[in-house]
Amino acid sequence: VNHLLGIKYINQQDIVLILETAEHFKEVINRPIKKVPSLRDVTIANIFFENSTRTKLSFELAQKRLSADVISFSAAQSSVKKGETLIDTVNNILAMKVDMVVMRHSNPGAAVFLSKNVKASIINAGDGAHEHPTQALLDSFTIRENLGGIAGKKIVIVGDILHSRVALSNIFALKMQGASVKVCGPKTLIPKHIESLGVTVEPNLRKALEWCDAANMLRVQNERMDVNYFPSTREYAQQYGLDKNLLDSLNKEIVIMHPGPINRGVEITSDVADSQQSVILNQVENGVAVRMAVIYLLASKIK
Ligand code: CP
Repeated sequence: VNHLLGIKYINQQDIVLILETAEHFKEVINRPIKKVPSLRDVTIANIFFENSTRTKLSFELAQKRLSADVISFSAAQSSVKKGETLIDTVNNILAMKVDMVVMRHSNPGAAVFLSKNVKASIINAGDGAHEHPTQALLDSFTIRENLGGIAGKKIVIVGDILHSRVALSNIFALKMQGASVKVCGPKTLIPKHIESLGVTVEPNLRKALEWCDAANMLRVQNERMDVNYFPSTREYAQQYGLDKNLLDSLNKEIVIMHPGPINRGVEITSDVADSQQSVILNQVENGVAVRMAVIYLLASKIK
């Protein structure tokens, strides 16, 4: 397969290969000369129909570190605004001899749809509330780095599970690698039948944190929120926000993760986000190496 459309379309061996390749690239990008010539003959288009800071810049940097030619496209400033379709848009970009497309889109399934309708290797950079595979891979990489592995580790994903592509991709990736996974959040933000994915639901944040080795504190996605779903921001912060008092009252150290962007004071307070136990910026650092690995491995199949 020449695409990365979601974690559910790959297997445990694929994940291990990506993470081991990313370890090599992490070492490379910490050298004085951060660049390798591997993808000098590959051209990649980053097309973003939704806003992004980390994913977009980290894909671009990963591509440049691999010496690929890169073009970046933001739908808001493009002829999409004149009514051009997704397939026409991408086929016009491909006519310029582009080999690979990284796409973020607000519609779940947009990456799969594109992969079936154009001739290019597609990487999903987030499709609505469906999947965000490279985020889950960089999260797994960061957990491995901090806990020494994933099999048998206890990971809790906290917050807005219902609207979260990060949660779904993480659940698939962590379960495939043998972790125990709990989700924790208000009932209105936990999908029905989530247990069918092999996770358990813990409604109480303190109990979830006392159980886990690492906690992934998700962003509350106000932009995808039906107002009826949501407890008020104040109620959410009181019941599901992680603050220093709660963290210090646990009888152990846990690894604190967040995919970003952070709603400071809602799902996590600043003193926790910026604490020694937080690996939030390590996640961002690891995103470049993980995306280099994904692009490098896919490019080796198309050339
Ligand atoms: N974590 C993440 O996807 O962040 P961006 O939306 O800024 O890319």
